[in-house]
Formats: sequence, C-alpha cells, structure tokens
Amino acid sequence: MSARGGAVEFSGKVALVTGAANGIGAGVARRLAAAGASVVVADVDDERGKAVADEVGGVFAHCDVRDPRHSEAAVAVAVERFGGLDIAVLNAGIATGFTLGDDFDPERYRTVMGINLDGVVYGVHAALPELKKRGGHIVATASMAGLMAMPMDPVYGANKAAVVGLVRGLGPVLAADGVTVNAVCPSFADTAIITGFKSTLESAGMPVMSVDDVVDAFVAVLRDGQPGECWFVQAGRPSAPFTFPNPPGPRTATGERVRLGHDPIATDAKTAEPETADVKTADVKTAEPETADVKTTGDKTTDSNTTATPEEH
Ligand SMILES: NC(=O)c1ccc[n+]([C@@H]2O[C@H](COP(=O)([O-])OP(=O)(O)OC[C@H]3O[C@@H](n4cnc5c(N)ncnc54)[C@H](O)[C@@H]3O)[C@@H](O)[C@H]2O)c1
Repeated sequence: MSARGGAVEFSGKVALVTGAANGIGAGVARRLAAAGASVVVADVDDERGKAVADEVGGVFAHCDVRDPRHSEAAVAVAVERFGGLDIAVLNAGIATGFTLGDDFDPERYRTVMGINLDGVVYGVHAALPELKKRGGHIVATASMAGLMAMPMDPVYGANKAAVVGLVRGLGPVLAADGVTVNAVCPSFADTAIITGFKSTLESAGMPVMSVDDVVDAFVAVLRDGQPGECWFVQAGRPSAPFTFPNPPGPRTATGERVRLGHDPIATDAKTAEPETADVKTADVKTAEPETADVKTTGDKTTDSNTTATPEEH
C-alpha cells in the first residue's frame, strides 16, 4: 500500500470482510475488490453474501462471527482460494434494541455481545496466524458510540467501547508481529442498522453519511493507520485518529508515567495530522493536564479530536 495520503492500490492483497453481505461491509468489499484485492465475503446472509461475492469476483463464506470456528473457516477459505490473508475487516454488527430496564432481554444481550464483541475477538484470533506470515492489517468496525456516551443504546455503546479498548491494547502488541490493527468509528451511516430510527435522526437534523463516505475512512485507515489507532468518521470532517484524553494512571507516587511492556499509552499521545488543509487548526485543542501535579513528561496531551461532538452517534 502506498505512502501517506496517496491513492491506495490493493492488487495482490487478500481481504476477509465480515458482515460483507450488506451495508458498510459490502461497500468495503466492493472498494477493495475494485482496487485489486481478492475478497472473501463473510456473512450469515447467504443470499446477499453470495451476490456481493459474485459481483466483486470474490468468494462467499457463510460465517456467524459468534462461533470462533466460523471465523477460522473463513480464514481457511482465504488461504485455500487466494493463498493467504493480508487484510481482515471485522465489521459484522447489529444494533441492540433494548435498555437495562423492563425491556431487558438477556438472550438478545448475549447475541449482541456475541456479534459485536466476540465476533471481533474471534476474528482477530483466527486471522493472526496468516497475517503474521506476511504482515497485514486488521480493521474492526467500532462506532462513534464507542467513543462517547450512548444513552439511547448503552449496551451498543458498551460493546463498541470494548472494541475500541481491544484495538488500543492490541495495537502495539501486534505491531511487533508486523500486523497493524485499527478501529473505524463511524457516526450514523445509511444502512439497514439505522432503518428503525432514520426518520428520527433526520427530523432531529442529524447528518447521515453515505456508505461510500464510511468506506473512504476504511481505505484511509488501511493506508495511514498506525498501530492501535481508532479513527472517527463524521459527516463533514476528514477522518482522523481519535486522540484519547491523557489518563491519570498508571503513575508513580511522584507522578511519573509507568511504562508497561508494550507501552500502550504512548500510542495515545500521537497528534493527528489533518488529512486536508481545510481542517482548521482552531479545532486542535491542547488538553489540560488533569491535575496540576500530574507530570506529563514524555506524554503529549494534544487533543486533536475534531470530531468530539458528543451529540452524535
Ligand atoms: N450504519 C451505521 O450508522 C453505523 C454506525 C457505526 C457503526 N456501525 C457498524 O458498522 C458495522 C456494519 O453495519 P452496517 O451499518 O453496515 O449494518 P448492516 O445491517 O447493513 O450490515 C451488517 C451486516 O452484518 C451481518 N451480520 C449480522 N449478524 C452477523 C453474524 N452473527 N455473523 C456475521 N455477519 C452478521 C448482516 O447480515 C449484515 O450483512 C456494524 O458493526 C455496525 O455496528 C454502523
């Protein structure tokens, strides 16, 4: 893949995309195939999945991401049909549809967590042996809901935040094996997942992005993503890595940062570079240290979250 900011060419690359029968996953599959990749379209929706696979000249793999054996089988399809794996887009996901009140549905809860969180964990585990062989990329579809409070669907927010945490933790670990792992965190996009509340969004003036807008972010992440970065996708702004606030720990009693094995905190300190010149520098704020006596030696605390508009998904 090319240098930062350039066009992206995926010739010779093999990609596995889960949840690729519809919506964002189908868009990613189409874009990767159009740029030269061989694509395994993995989904529980056999009819649509096969149609997308035929359209992109790829292969369909029936894959329920809740079952780790299905993810392993989908990776095996990539190896058997295309000779290996370079890119795993772990995208399958569903909305929740309940709160923790009277409508709480424990069975649906397990289903949602199984798809939105376990599916990513199993996908990473299944893809890693192949990705490590020749270096590669994992991109998990999280959500803006994983970066902000999500009162309208707290369980969805919880499993998407878990994906964000997983990616941040894995980033530096997998980098050592030549595998770059990122999350993409879209705001609302025009797919079946928002069908039930699209009119509510529109009447509230919430922007709804096209699938193509979101797919642009996946391509940018595959081109430019650094280990563990979680990129926001927000209408009207170029996508960029979300910069997490400087956490209070772990620190010594005198306030020095304690570095852990793979130093995951260091990846948080990166300052996002605007992808286009029209990102106003006024949007890039410097976060205040949380307390005056917390030393920030070695930790840049720049908050480059041009997306931090907490009113959006
Ligand atoms: N559309 C949005 O507004 C939005 C915003 C943020 C994040 N996301 C995330 O984007 C991802 C894709 O969603 P979408 O918006 O394209 O919705 P979508 O409903 O169009 O696509 C989801 C796909 O996942 C598949 N799927 C469902 N359960 C599965 C399972 N057990 N195993 C394998 N595949 C399964 C579906 O068949 C479907 O093809 C999800 O992770 C979703 O949470 C969507």
